[in-house]
Amino acid sequence: MAGIKTIPVSVDEHGLDVEEGIRRAPNAALAVVTAGQQAPLGVTLSLPRRLRLLEWADENGSWIVEDDYLSELQLVGRAAPALASQDRSGRVIHIGTFSKTINPGLRLGFVVAPTSLANRVADTAAALAPAASITCQWALAEFMRKGHYLRHLRRMKRTYTARLAALQRALSIPATTEAMAGLALLVHLPQGADDVAISQQALAVGLAPLPLSIWYADAAQARSGLLLCVTNVPDEGIEDCCSRLVRFTEAFI
Ligand SMILES: Cc1ncc(COP(=O)(O)O)c(C=O)c1O
Repeated sequence: MAGIKTIPVSVDEHGLDVEEGIRRAPNAALAVVTAGQQAPLGVTLSLPRRLRLLEWADENGSWIVEDDYLSELQLVGRAAPALASQDRSGRVIHIGTFSKTINPGLRLGFVVAPTSLANRVADTAAALAPAASITCQWALAEFMRKGHYLRHLRRMKRTYTARLAALQRALSIPATTEAMAGLALLVHLPQGADDVAISQQALAVGLAPLPLSIWYADAAQARSGLLLCVTNVPDEGIEDCCSRLVRFTEAFI
């Protein structure tokens, strides 16, 4: 609706390739990044690249939108600091959500904006925010004030880490960080395997993996794989689910 022209930028093991982004779109008005855990691959943006991105935004008067969709929910290692906390020039607009940390049904998130943008962001939020959510906002503020949110995050991290281990055991996948993709386990498939068809047809046998290839802007570069979310792994019957998934997938490749 805003007539934005988007320029996709590659991601490698250090996160977004900032130099490539600057080369391809030196005067971009804004860069949208998932610095903490790249969506969907889960890679953390390295410190040198963070500094380069901030430097570019500062020199160019551009904005960086930091989509911090997973917050502290990092299952392997410690969550990196927010990019906004490293921003000395007021160029980062930090957007958080409670969709993953509490529940997507809440429809609550938050923006930490540079002071120079505060009025415009407040006007837009006032125009867009559903009035009914004020009750939820109060309840959530109370939940945080009393320390329940931090306890909840710690508990969910423990629960998800246990589910991750169960899923890795059931699939006989070694516990490597490369396989982690945010809150999902990434299973690579041979190039050319139709991960979209596999995901669609897996629904019929009660499984809901997400295809990796649909995340690529350039279909020619797309890699085939399945993202298996660890958050809703059942406590019982995981071995059965996984052997169904393996049998089902093997029939396709
Ligand atoms: C990359 C990314 N950003 C943001 C969000 C959060 O969106 P919302 O707060 O609208 O639920 C999600 C949730 O799925 C996500 O995957």
